[in-house]
Amino acid sequence: MVAVHPRVSGYLGRALSLELSAVQQYMTQACLAEQWGDLEAAGRFRRETVEELQHAERLVQRMLQLGLAPGASQLKPISHAPDLEGLLRLDAVLEVDLIEHYAEAVRFCEAIADTDNRAFFAALWQEESNHGQELQEWLATFANPEALAEPQHATF
Ligand SMILES: [Fe+2]
Ligand SMILES: [Fe+2]
Repeated sequence: MVAVHPRVSGYLGRALSLELSAVQQYMTQACLAEQWGDLEAAGRFRRETVEELQHAERLVQRMLQLGLAPGASQLKPISHAPDLEGLLRLDAVLEVDLIEHYAEAVRFCEAIADTDNRAFFAALWQEESNHGQELQEWLATFANPEALAEPQHATF
């Protein structure tokens, strides 16, 4: 059995709670968007739900490899918003929580020279950073709707 620092197992457990909270939040938003008749947003939220579920699965696999019993301690309560922009702002907060959590885990693993777990957390940090970026781009379409009609980047 691989020896694991107790703080590393703490980072894994907290990450599982955050990822499952994200699953619950995006799943709820997918259902809500569907009720609003916004099927495009519902589809995007469903894809996010699956990605967060896959993150949770990777954490469970990692914990089992390390001989730890997977168990999320607490799901974050879901906040509500009256419209799509409001939901996306809540999601941006959730993604920042995840990004900061993984960044801290990476820093700690670096400090104790735990290269395997550092790489594991760094991959999740990168994926959550991409989520955060995509959310900001989606949010930006609310501030500047014409940006959708006229792409700023060249297309080939
Ligand atoms: Fe995630
Ligand atoms: Fe995410």
